Order: sequence, then structure tokens, then C-alpha cells
Amino acid sequence: MDKKTVFSGIQATSNQHLGNYLGAIKNWVEMQKQYDNYFCVVDLHTVTVPQDPDTLRANIREVAGLLFAAGIDEDNSTVFIQSHVKAHSELAWLLNCITPMGWLHRMTQFKEKSEKAKDEVSVGLFDYPVLQAADILLYDTNLVPVGEDQKQHVELCRDIAQRFNYRYGEVFVLPDAYIPPVGGRVMGLSNPDKKMSKSEEKKDDSIFLLDAPDQIRAKIKKATTDSHREIKFDEKRSGVNNLLTIYQLVTEKTRDQIEDHFAGKSYKDLKEQLAEAVIETLEPLQQRYRELTGEKGYLEAMLNRGAKRAEARAETKLRQVYEKIGLR
Ligand code: TYM
Repeated sequence: MDKKTVFSGIQATSNQHLGNYLGAIKNWVEMQKQYDNYFCVVDLHTVTVPQDPDTLRANIREVAGLLFAAGIDEDNSTVFIQSHVKAHSELAWLLNCITPMGWLHRMTQFKEKSEKAKDEVSVGLFDYPVLQAADILLYDTNLVPVGEDQKQHVELCRDIAQRFNYRYGEVFVLPDAYIPPVGGRVMGLSNPDKKMSKSEEKKDDSIFLLDAPDQIRAKIKKATTDSHREIKFDEKRSGVNNLLTIYQLVTEKTRDQIEDHFAGKSYKDLKEQLAEAVIETLEPLQQRYRELTGEKGYLEAMLNRGAKRAEARAETKLRQVYEKIGLR
């Protein structure tokens, strides 16, 4: 039986954090046996904001290494670097030509990012979601596992696909976002009313996947809680709720089990146990990361194989698109 296709992407930035892991990567690993998977380090998306070339090169390698270290494997998944498969840029251009500007003006991520960037807003940043649509549509993707913040981009991708199919005939499969029921929006530690992010100035807000155990302990110790005492899941108490949600995701216990476990205990207990559970989750990943990036050429060989596999599939789709439009 043909498996359904999964595609997802991750930017080539350092400081990959627990939100990226729990909202996306962990699910990719868990889902990979059921599907035909493409996981892409989206370096062309990364350059929509200024990047230092040497740092970017290092970050591309780091993120690809983290994906394999987290448990994505070549037998079940194709992992590749976006710029290695030229079809992504080519399809993005063709989709640009059918996407109304108004659709992009509505994107909340663009509004947020362009506010931060102020006078550095590039055309690329505006066009970001169209490149993302190209990523997804090239592989006849059925399912796009992402965190909640990407939902709007996947919906836009569907709209673009529908518009193309309406104009030129059925070419693209309409994808659905898959957002995990828990973990789709991991919040910051010091500011639990905002999502955990890489760009947060206050570094203590996020746990990075390569943080040392003592850094993890220190950050969780400082995490914002409240003046209540009871340890219960309650969205209105965003700090404690977030810590409990992270605990739930890394221990895979149920909410009832967790509330029973912490009944009568203090926030100090919660923080200490959470820190140890996070460390336990990240340690094997960090160990594998060191192993596979330590061996020269190992990661590169996997990425070359990934790019070849992805290219073969993407080129077939791109050819169809060129024909439909009348360019071939
Ligand atoms: P990026 O690199 O910002 O994030 C990678 C994945 O991590 C998820 N995520 C979170 N999940 C839960 N809580 C958080 N605090 C949190 N922060 C980030 C994101 O939702 C994402 O799934 N535009 C995409 C990259 C992309 C893409 C694609 C994704 C490019 N092309 C095609 C899917 C399909 C992005 O910026 O991800």
C-alpha cells in the first residue's frame, strides 16, 4: 500500500529549543514509520532575514545533525537541505505569479517579523509563505506536522494549491496541517504568555536542545510561576501550566497521573523533577549529536543522499507544473 506523504521544514538557526522539539521534531520521529517522509532544513527561508555566512553554514549543519540525533532515520525519511533541491525556488517563483499580495499581507508571522525587523524588511520575508507552499506542494504532501504558529501558512498553501488547480487543472494535492494535541505551543519559561522562541532576547526563556544539564536546571529554577500553591493543569495559570505541559510531554504520563504525583508537593519539587526529566530526554539526543557530527563527512553523505531522493520526486512535479502553465 502506498503510504501517505509527510513534509515538514525547520529553519537553519542555532538555538533550536524545546518548543521546536516538542511541537515538531518529536512528532516527526514518532510518525515516521507510518508515512513517506520529507524533512527539510529550510535554509532559503532562513536568509529572508540577514545572516552571517559562516554562522549560517554552521547552523545548517547543526540543525540537520539535530534531526538525525533526535531519531529521524534514512530508512523511513528523506532529510535534505532546501537549497540543494533547486525545484523549491523554481516552484516558488511560479506560485508567486498566481498568489495575490493581499493573501500575504494577512499573514500574522509576517506582521510580527516585519515589526521586529523594521527597516530591514526584505521582499523575501514577505514572500516567505509562498516558498513554504512550494516546499509542501512539490511532494504531493498529505500531512504537514507543525507547531500551532505554522497553521496559517499551511492554510495559505492550500489556498494557493486550490487556485492553481482551478486555473490549470488538478496538479497539487491539498495538504492538512497536523498540530499535536499537546505541545503545539510551548510557552517561554520567563514569559509564559508568549511562545518559546529562538529570538527571545532573554536567553533564559528557552531551553535549547544543546544546553548542558546545569544550564537546564538553572533556567527551569528561574521559570515564572505564581502565588498559588496547588500544582494543577490550569490554562489561566500560564507559568505552572506550561511547566506541567512540558513535564507531560517529556515523561508521557497522563495529566491525572501528574497531578496525583505532585499533590502536596511544592513548586521547587516540580521544577527539580521537571529539570531532571528534560535532561533525561535531551541527553541521548545530545550524545548522538556529538557522535554523528564528530565523524567528518558522515552527515554530509546522508544529506547528499537525501537531496538526490528529494530531487527526483520534486523534479517530476515541477515538470508537470511547467507543462500545465505552457512553459514546456
Ligand atoms: P521554524 O523553524 O520556526 O520551527 C520549526 C517547527 O517548530 C515549531 N515550533 C513550535 N512548536 C511548539 N511550540 C513552540 N514554541 C514552537 N516554536 C516553533 C514550528 O511550528 C515548526 O513546526 N515556516 C517554518 C519552516 C518551514 C516549513 C515548511 C514547515 C518552511 N517550509 C514547509 C512546514 C512545511 C518555520 O519557520 O519553522
